[in-house]
Amino acid sequence: MCLVVGFTIVVIVVLSSVLWFRTLRAADQIDLLLNISFKLGIQRFVLRRPVLHNLSLANGRTLLMPRAFLKYSIDEVLKLDIRHDDIIVSSYMKAGTTWVSEIVWLICHNADTVAAKQSSVHRRFVYVEALDHQGFGCGLQTIEKLPEERRRYIKTHLPFELLPNELQRSGKGKMIYVARNPKDLCVSLYHFYKMVVTGLPEPGTWSEFLSNFCRSNVAYGSWFRHVEKYWQVYQERKDTMYFVTYENLKKDLKEEVKKLAGFLEKELSDEEIDRIVRHCTFANLSVNQNANYSEADASGVMDFKISKFMRKGEVGDWKNYFTINQNDEFDRMFQERTKDWTLKFEFDPSN
Ligand code: A3P
Repeated sequence: MCLVVGFTIVVIVVLSSVLWFRTLRAADQIDLLLNISFKLGIQRFVLRRPVLHNLSLANGRTLLMPRAFLKYSIDEVLKLDIRHDDIIVSSYMKAGTTWVSEIVWLICHNADTVAAKQSSVHRRFVYVEALDHQGFGCGLQTIEKLPEERRRYIKTHLPFELLPNELQRSGKGKMIYVARNPKDLCVSLYHFYKMVVTGLPEPGTWSEFLSNFCRSNVAYGSWFRHVEKYWQVYQERKDTMYFVTYENLKKDLKEEVKKLAGFLEKELSDEEIDRIVRHCTFANLSVNQNANYSEADASGVMDFKISKFMRKGEVGDWKNYFTINQNDEFDRMFQERTKDWTLKFEFDPSN
C-alpha cells in the first residue's frame, strides 16, 4: 500500500514538474538544466559531444550548429534590441575574438588593466548566442539581466544574416569584425574541437577536419560566406563598423590598438596605449587567468591537457599541419572562392 502511495506521489511530482518545465521559455529551460548540472558536477554528461544539425531559423535561414545551441538561442538573438552604445565583437571562431575583446574592453575602460585582471573577459564580453558559454551561463540571459545603465559588450560568431534584426538593419552600436587567414584559423579550430570536450563534435583526424572545414561542414557553416558578407557590409558602414585582421594585430599591435581607439572615439595617452599593448601580448594574455579560459578548464568544459585555449598565437603555424597536397588543393579552392574579393589575407609572416 505504502509503495503504491509513494509511487503515485512520485509520478504526480514528476508529471507536474514536466508540465511546469514545459511552460518555461526554451532559454529558461536550458539555463535551468545547465545550472542543475553544474551544481551536481554532471555537466560533462549533459553537455556531451553533440552532432551538428542544419537548423532552420525563424528568419528562414539555416545554420549548421549543435542542435541545443539553436533550440533556444538564435531565434531569440534575432529579436534582441540593440542600443546605441552597444559594442559588438564579431568573428568566425578562432579568429582572435578573445584578444580583440580584451583590447576593446581596455580601450573603453581607459586602459584599466587592474580591473581587467579582476574578472574574466568572458564575463565582461558576453557570448550572446551561447547556450552555455563554457560554463559562464546562457549569453542572451546574461545580457538581459544586465542593469539598464551598464554598457553592453557583446561577442558573437553568428554570420551577419543571423545577427539581431535591428543590428542588421540599422547598424546601431559599434561593431568590430575580426578576420584571420583560414589556414591558421582551421588549425586553431581543429585543436579547439579536440579540447572542447563538451559542446563540439569530435573533429576526427586533421585531414578529415580540414576536409569538413573546406566543405563548410563545421559549426557556424562556411568561413568564406561569413567573412565575405561582413566585409561587404563593412564597405557600407565604416562609421559604425571596423574590420581588423589577426595578421595585422600580430604585425603591429600598437598601431592596431590606436586605430581601434580612434574607431571607438576614445582618446588615450601614449602611456595608456602602451599599457594595453603590454597587457595584450600573447606572452601576457596566455598566462592571464581572466583571459585564457582557465575557468572552462576547471569546470571540465574544456580540457587543457589536450590543448590550451591560448595555444600558439602565431601566423604561419598551418605549415606544421598542411601536407603539400592539402596545401595545393586548399590554395586552388581559396583562389576560386575569393577571386572577386578585395580583402586579402597574409598566410606567411616572413613575406
Ligand atoms: P591559436 O590556436 O592559433 O593559438 P578566439 O579567441 O577567436 O577563439 O581565437 C583564439 C586564437 O587566438 C588562438 O589561436 C589564440 O592563441 C589566439 N590568441 C589569443 N590571444 C592572442 C594574442 N595576444 N596574441 C596572439 N594570438 C592570440
